[in-house]
Amino acid sequence: MTRPLKIVAALIIVFSGIMEASDAAYPEGWESWPVEHSNRIPPAGEDLTALPPVVANTFKAYGWVNDAKGSAYNVRINPASRNEGGPPDGPTAVLELTDIGAIFVTEHILGEPQYGAFSIADKSDISQAHPSLNMKTCINCHTGFSDLTQAGVFALK
Ligand code: HEC
Repeated sequence: MTRPLKIVAALIIVFSGIMEASDAAYPEGWESWPVEHSNRIPPAGEDLTALPPVVANTFKAYGWVNDAKGSAYNVRINPASRNEGGPPDGPTAVLELTDIGAIFVTEHILGEPQYGAFSIADKSDISQAHPSLNMKTCINCHTGFSDLTQAGVFALK
């Protein structure tokens, strides 16, 4: 291998170590879960100052989607997750990005939230397609605002 190629190979190895695959599985049947509410990620550049900080942070983090034109989304909750003692193990909720055909997923395993990001068209894992889709990014925000979530889920609080 030439030296530049070696450097590229080394960078790919380092990068793939940082970029973890989805921890949650693709949640079969999510399309039939009721929509809890709908909203939109605004196009990049829109004034976010009036929004609660967590929402402004989220819209900033995903302002690049759909060529920075934003996307409508639905939050859907698995009916089985509406449980007094917290969501049971299994798929919990999705955030369906309707304009880009992707879902963000929360699942619970042994009571702990797991996250995932998938293409709707072919169910492929897209968590490594962009740094903001990586599991560390999801976990940092969802656990960082733990006073606003139940078991890592905003919509259950
Ligand atoms: C900067 C903060 C932030 C990041 C990063 C983030 N989220 Fe969220 N997420 C939110 C907020 C705030 C909501 C609530 C949006 C709403 O209700 O309109 C939300 C909603 C969700 C929902 C719907 C269920 C719920 O919790 O209300 C899922 C599923 C979800 N996110 C998964 C993910 C995944 C997977 C990632 C990483 C690919 C991710 N999130 C990254 C802040 C974030």
